[in-house]
Amino acid sequence: MTDPSPPRTALVTGGARGIGGAVCRRLAAQGHRVAIADLLVSQGEALAAELRADYGIRAVAHQCDVTDSDRVREVVAAVEAELGPVDILVNAAGFDRFVRFVDTDEDFWDMIIDINFKGTLRTTYAVLPGMMERGWGRIVNLSSDAARVGSSLESVYAGAKAGVIAFTKTIARESVKKGVTANIVCPGPTDTDLIREMGEEGDLPAKIVGSLSKAVPIGRMAQPDEIAYGVTVFTAEDANYITGQTLSVSGGLTMA
Ligand SMILES: NC(=O)c1ccc[n+]([C@@H]2O[C@H](COP(=O)([O-])OP(=O)(O)OC[C@H]3O[C@@H](n4cnc5c(N)ncnc54)[C@H](O)[C@@H]3O)[C@@H](O)[C@H]2O)c1
Repeated sequence: MTDPSPPRTALVTGGARGIGGAVCRRLAAQGHRVAIADLLVSQGEALAAELRADYGIRAVAHQCDVTDSDRVREVVAAVEAELGPVDILVNAAGFDRFVRFVDTDEDFWDMIIDINFKGTLRTTYAVLPGMMERGWGRIVNLSSDAARVGSSLESVYAGAKAGVIAFTKTIARESVKKGVTANIVCPGPTDTDLIREMGEEGDLPAKIVGSLSKAVPIGRMAQPDEIAYGVTVFTAEDANYITGQTLSVSGGLTMA
């Protein structure tokens, strides 16, 4: 048993709020250095200040759009200069809207795939070579139960998130002998701004969001910290023999 865990440098995309924000809090509470990369820079900076004050760790925030490859590279370089090489990468940046597939268009497909799938590729591309070279790394990618069982009005998002699962399993195979693990957390419906904003886009979306709690065996949506716990199962120092796994944290919604 490896205890206590040495402090590591963690980069969390989408870390300014919601599930990513809760992941930042858990990693900071474990003593890790935390870098937040998010579109929402003032929320990210406020959370970084909170983490420094509450946990006495080093924390920074950078404005970053995960659809911009140059910016992703710049942010990773800045974080490595400030906090040291990235040991833990959590890809929590994500976006969706409830739309029937027949009502979507190709611009919508491109936007959803660019954020949810290619965003994960970009950050992984920027940090994985260094992790492999140093012989230690943890990558945790947020997918969704929508990717495992489908979800009405989320066709393109479900496809992009299924891509995240297949991609993560493959890099897990390619990097495990170099000390890097890569795993997937699939949240079920979680009480965050994302789901609230999705429910505000019309009568049908509002009805869907209103019915989500009943669809989950536990009878309620998850709180972001309940998902964050699942993420830290995989980031743990002792989790070196767990790779390529998909963990649903969804109150019993899926039991695949
Ligand atoms: N909330 C749910 O019910 C739910 C369910 C399944 C999966 N997920 C997934 O969990 C992850 C976190 O979602 P959440 O509910 O916390 O959402 P959220 O909207 O509360 O947080 C997501 C964060 O990602 C950031 N973000 C969005 N697009 C970005 C971009 N292009 N570049 C950088 N940052 C960007 C947002 O600014 C935000 O801070 C997402 O990947 C989401 O798809 C959420």
